[in-house]
Amino acid sequence: MYSEALKTGRKIFAVAPMIDWTDRHCRYLHRQISRHALLYTEMVVADAIIHGPRDRLLGYDAAEHPVALQLGGSDPAKLSQALRIAEAHGYDEINLNVGCPSDRVQSGTFGACLMLTPETVASCVAAMKAVSKAPVTVKCRIGVDDQEPEEALPELMTRVLDAGADAIWIHARKAWLKGLSPKENREIPPLDYEIVYRMKQRWPDVFIGINGGIQTLDQAEAHLAHVDGVMLGRAAYQNAAILADVDHRFYGAQAVESDWNALRDRMMAYTERHIAEGGRLQHVARHMVGLFSGLPGSRRYRQILSTDANKPGAGPEVIAAAFAAVDFAGEGERVSA
Ligand SMILES: Cc1cc2nc3c(=O)[nH]c(=O)nc-3n(C[C@H](O)[C@H](O)[C@H](O)COP(=O)(O)O)c2cc1C
Repeated sequence: MYSEALKTGRKIFAVAPMIDWTDRHCRYLHRQISRHALLYTEMVVADAIIHGPRDRLLGYDAAEHPVALQLGGSDPAKLSQALRIAEAHGYDEINLNVGCPSDRVQSGTFGACLMLTPETVASCVAAMKAVSKAPVTVKCRIGVDDQEPEEALPELMTRVLDAGADAIWIHARKAWLKGLSPKENREIPPLDYEIVYRMKQRWPDVFIGINGGIQTLDQAEAHLAHVDGVMLGRAAYQNAAILADVDHRFYGAQAVESDWNALRDRMMAYTERHIAEGGRLQHVARHMVGLFSGLPGSRRYRQILSTDANKPGAGPEVIAAAFAAVDFAGEGERVSA
């Protein structure tokens, strides 16, 4: 996927890994809106795969491809063991998390604090490459705490590229390991896109993707003049309708008008299957709440999905009722905004 992208100049548009958000139901929803966007799982900790409920952690719907599994860990042996277990699930990419600042993650010595030990990250990547048929990539920060990004980032990149990493996704903001909550750390300190562009100039033959603070497809397109890929997190989740233009703008697909009725029908069928397997409507509906924000009727839509979907015995008909509340007439203007 990445070598092909570099060869052909085709760009990659990705939806970021987000714990508690980009679970399989969220990814299924996103896939109904964009055929081509690369979708990431939530971070799954290697230990959890080894000792926990594997199928629940790794299972997904075949419709989700292309989908990348993000792993958390810092022990090469555990990461390769987790990957052997995951192999049968056929993920299109395996990504190592070197960017998450949460306390829980720090105590396990992985995530962003790995920026401080690039040699460990390199050993992890080498171990993952040795067992993975799929590309192995890294998602990192530009630095942490008082690190100097101009030194820390190229140092990490040199090591992981030597270890065989196939692509690097860079969240263009330093991680603050102490004194800021992960939420605060998504706004502070400021983003530095230029340093990511400079990494691409330094490594023209390496796939480099950018992440952090990208709100619109116009902004995404502007970044693609400098780098190979864009990754959107919160904007893609909170306003998933923007994904409707991704195939046309970034993958050369024909522009088609969004068929929200078809989306409704597919999500109803999916939810029906999920409930038949013992799941709950709410597991799926919670990801759909932000879908039409800004459109007339979207408040009622949100209300129906967030209250009725929680009632005992709630089924796919709640999705139908919610969609019926939205007036899609002004949709074109808002979605491309
Ligand atoms: C709720 C939430 C959960 C996140 N979980 C992860 C994660 O599991 N792994 C990861 O690498 N980054 C995680 N992140 C960071 C995002 O992947 C992304 O780097 C960050 O939100 C910046 O991009 P954005 O400004 O487009 O949202 C998370 C972000 C949010 C908002």
